[in-house]
Amino acid sequence: MLKIAVCVSGGGTNLQAIIDSINSGKLENTKIVRVISNNPNAYALERAKNAGIDAVCVSPKSFKNRSEFNDALLAALNEADPDLIVLAGFLVVIPLNVIETYRGRIINIHPSLIPSFCGTGFYGLKVHEAALARGVKITGATVHYVDEGTDTGPIIMQKAVEVKEGDTPEILQRRVMEQAEWIILPESIGLIAKETEKK
Ligand code: GAR
Repeated sequence: MLKIAVCVSGGGTNLQAIIDSINSGKLENTKIVRVISNNPNAYALERAKNAGIDAVCVSPKSFKNRSEFNDALLAALNEADPDLIVLAGFLVVIPLNVIETYRGRIINIHPSLIPSFCGTGFYGLKVHEAALARGVKITGATVHYVDEGTDTGPIIMQKAVEVKEGDTPEILQRRVMEQAEWIILPESIGLIAKETEKK
């Protein structure tokens, strides 16, 4: 059984996609052991509670400095003892202590086809605004391993999505979620769960 901790900051639709995939049996041998949010108002926390999953908030605002926050985040992860950390719309730069402790065991979903529209400053709607401003006809989403860089780790899965005439950033974001993110994030976890079973 692959034990995963899911880190979130907002609406939590990707978290919901993981929960739904587990409940439907599509995603096997996987259990969400904890959901961690940096934002106390994240709707994702409600989704976790509704699904009966342990959910905690670790907000940088509750700590004197970044280093104390980083320690608290690592402690909240360690308590749950996950095999894999899934960043599902977690808009916090992952501190070095977490990367070092969980090297090769952290994955992230990014709403573009990396290496386009990624790196510092590219998150959430900004990614789709940039894609529309550049006029690309195809965008998509990427699941990748997390390393010290921003969106630089090895790619696990990608899925392309068409950009349509008249798209707004919001419309494009929704299409990328529906046609790519909610599919490839549970599938990537499933791949890792399968590999773990073999070991
Ligand atoms: C998703 O589109 C995710 O790809 C993006 O934030 C959104 C979270 O939505 N992540 C990033 O931009 C990371 N760089 P959700 O809370 O509904 O899953």
